[in-house]
Amino acid sequence: MDRIAIVGGAPLNGSIPISGAKNSAIKLMAASLLTDQPLRLTNMPRLADTRFLARLLRRLGTEVTEIDGPEGPETLLHTPEIVSAFASYDLVRQMRASFNVLGPLIARSGHAKVSLPGGCAIGGRPVDLHLKALEALGAHIDLNEGYVYAQAPRGLTGAKIEFPFVSVGATEHTLLAAVLAQGETVILNAAREPEIVDVIECLIRMGAKIEGAGTSTLHIQGVDRLDGATHPVVPDRIEAGTYAVAAAMTGGKVTLTGCRPEHMGALLSKLEEAGVTVRRAEASVEIERQGERLRAVDLVTDPYPGFATDLQAQFMALMTLASGESVIRETVFENRFMHVSELARLGADISVHGGEARVKGVETLRGAPVMATDLRASVGLVIAGLAARGETVVHRVYHLDRGFERLEEKLSNCGADIRRLKGEEDAA
Ligand code: UD1
Repeated sequence: MDRIAIVGGAPLNGSIPISGAKNSAIKLMAASLLTDQPLRLTNMPRLADTRFLARLLRRLGTEVTEIDGPEGPETLLHTPEIVSAFASYDLVRQMRASFNVLGPLIARSGHAKVSLPGGCAIGGRPVDLHLKALEALGAHIDLNEGYVYAQAPRGLTGAKIEFPFVSVGATEHTLLAAVLAQGETVILNAAREPEIVDVIECLIRMGAKIEGAGTSTLHIQGVDRLDGATHPVVPDRIEAGTYAVAAAMTGGKVTLTGCRPEHMGALLSKLEEAGVTVRRAEASVEIERQGERLRAVDLVTDPYPGFATDLQAQFMALMTLASGESVIRETVFENRFMHVSELARLGADISVHGGEARVKGVETLRGAPVMATDLRASVGLVIAGLAARGETVVHRVYHLDRGFERLEEKLSNCGADIRRLKGEEDAA
């Protein structure tokens, strides 16, 4: 298993191109199941997760072609017909978001058998809201031996669906089913993440009728069929935010290009509060810190436009070297502090009480071997390693490969001493 070795201490200087958003790309790929015409996605990230979903879609009947287009990586997806409406445990277990093929499969072919995803490192992560919404749209759902058996032989019917709390996955999943339902669907308490707006924009390009993108109430008028389209994947605000925190952590000056600063509001204002200089432009943002120590700031994770839970581990890494104490409260996932004990191995002073972590800033971190536990936690460890004295080796980097495209290259181009150690035994 690959590892990543980092010798900390070098400031980051230069520019980093931001890729298309993983969390949008995989939902857009699933949306391609809704039409028998080709969907062309541009600004596609090339990640383990997108490759993985491509494998699943091919089994369902999708032709997936990756192209190096004139303006970067593209993926062409074409499903003339659904040849199988089955997603096995092995496939869904490896990537939870593959569960979201269930809705499109029911909408397009009237039935599906998809494995329940099960738990993961950051908590139980149930899918009860997804299933209730699909039932409200008229799908008949049975759970048996870990599988969802869904039937809607006469198609889905629009309904009013109110979520008890905000769920990104359930909002998207409902959208992907409701666009082909008969009549109107109203989703109340919908998630407002930019990736959801992106999926809605793509569906509209395909001929769907949806109003309310970016608000918590969505109105969907079902249509009989959707068409093909060309759609650019929205820039990855989590990748951009991660590199912004990395630059704040090491000091230096980094420009993030091809991003959308307006999607990064909560993070950028926290960075400013901590003492980082942030210069926003239309499609780029410059992050600068020269020498001065950062101040500790508190934060609470929340659904968008709140502070993203997917940036919590990175920000915590940053706070380990700030002056003072930072209180970080996680409200989205129940068990998202797995990185705390690994950060402690580098010398961080953090205590956790329930959903709250108290981070007392220390003067220095020291490199050590650490283990990645999930995608965002692992990049938090990379960030800490970039500022720690000596060498940090991050084990289990397959977590990073799921969501960060060419991470070592993007960081080393800005002066980081970071390299991949190929294929040796994972000692972690
Ligand atoms: C998505 C993102 C993930 C991000 C998260 C929150 C993808 C592939 N993943 O995950 O990176 O961290 O949004 O921004 O886009 N819940 C239920 N029942 C349900 C669904 C969710 O109880 O049916 C709970 C979850 O356990 C969690 C909370 O709701 O505590 C929010 O989860 P949700 O917004 O659904 O996250 P995901 O879509 O899984």
